[in-house]
Amino acid sequence: MQVSFKVRRFDPEAGKPPYYDQYTLDVPDYFTVLDALLQVRDEVDGSLALRCSCRSAICGSCAMHINGHAHLACKSRIQNFASKTGEIVVEPMGNMPVIKDLVVEMKPFWSKVQAVTPWLIPEGPPPQREYVVPNSAMLELAGVMNCIMCGCCVSDCTVLTVDKSFLAPAALAKAYRFVADPRDGVSEERLRELSKRSGIWDCTRCFECVQQCPKNVAPMERILALRAKAMEVGFTNNIGSRHSESIARSVKHSGWLDELRVPIESAGLFNIKALIGYIPVGFRALVKGKVPPIIHRPRPGADSVKRIFEKLEVRK
Ligand code: FES
Repeated sequence: MQVSFKVRRFDPEAGKPPYYDQYTLDVPDYFTVLDALLQVRDEVDGSLALRCSCRSAICGSCAMHINGHAHLACKSRIQNFASKTGEIVVEPMGNMPVIKDLVVEMKPFWSKVQAVTPWLIPEGPPPQREYVVPNSAMLELAGVMNCIMCGCCVSDCTVLTVDKSFLAPAALAKAYRFVADPRDGVSEERLRELSKRSGIWDCTRCFECVQQCPKNVAPMERILALRAKAMEVGFTNNIGSRHSESIARSVKHSGWLDELRVPIESAGLFNIKALIGYIPVGFRALVKGKVPPIIHRPRPGADSVKRIFEKLEVRK
């Protein structure tokens, strides 16, 4: 098949703005995007910079944007990506500075992984022979241990794009791996740290990390599990958990969201600064005619919703 690759080129040291090069190749349909890029580098343009190693979706080094989203180039079959026009757009990963062409600086990624203390800290003296862990606990961790640290989830994280301090999905999934490990002795301390700003409560659940992870680690699901664990052990004095509790309370009692009450309860009744910060939002809502009803009445069927909540609470 004939495919045209539109590749973003950029060399910060050259002092020129980024531009796109077009390469048209005849390739077999079993080719991956990485196969094609290597052919370009070998036969057409030796100056094209990219990273790869295993070519088997194991090392994680060939992650890049293909048609606007992060993928492993060695796992991306050309026939799945060539649009009707036969063109594939290739760019470096997002949320990371570009070193050259498709090669990005991974230091910010690694420093965040390091920030979650990504190793076991067992309690007490080590056992004589080995730590015995129930199979079920390790099965629960198997999914998250599949992470190959490719950075696809971080590349497409929409929170990180607007807040560089966010720990981001890869580091938080790694944190879950140790929090949920029965051998770890400092899970509570980990959860305390993760509940602070830039941690588990800053995820907006956009699902990008779940969709882009090539190993089905589902980082967002791990973040939600960390939130539940943090609340279970009592780290509830933060906007995120108050927000979550307020929504649950509102839906349980009326069958729908009390949009006036939730922001106030989330910020905290005595958090005057945050409450004052809501005034412009309230004013804009008023101007646009979007102020929620002052008296929040239950919706028809609210009793059924309440019963669902009560059943779930009993199961807990
Ligand atoms: Fe190793 Fe693609 S080259 S994951």
